[in-house]
Amino acid sequence: MTHDHKFFSQLNCPKSVTWTSDIQMMFTPLDIQHMKTKGIDLSSYQDVMINAVQIYSRVKSGSMPPPGSGEQPWSDEWVNTFGCWIQQGCPQG
Ligand code: HEM
Repeated sequence: MTHDHKFFSQLNCPKSVTWTSDIQMMFTPLDIQHMKTKGIDLSSYQDVMINAVQIYSRVKSGSMPPPGSGEQPWSDEWVNTFGCWIQQGCPQG
């Protein structure tokens, strides 16, 4: 695993992050539609929680959403917020 427990514990997280208030809105209808065929439902709290570290690695490296998909890579702020959600134990809110 590229990002381990120690990595997430060291992120700077000034505010609390929840699925309902912060994370759910980060996934577009296009993300959801395309990734459903790959076995990850990005509209599902359960699926995103289970795959959170893998998703973090993809959005941080910029490999997802894919260049050329018509979507922008996530900003550093979004990547950090997602990492903070992992640090805080993926609360649903
Ligand atoms: C923020 C949004 C997205 C996230 C977090 C995400 C996450 C991921 C993850 C974790 C995988 C590996 C899953 C596996 O191999 O079973 C993957 C694969 C893939 N995703 Fe996404 N995805 C996103 C958006 C998209 C979009 C918008 C498209 C297409 C327009 C797309 C197309 C693909 C394809 C083709 C693969 C398989 C090939 C590869 O690994 O590069 N994804 N994605």
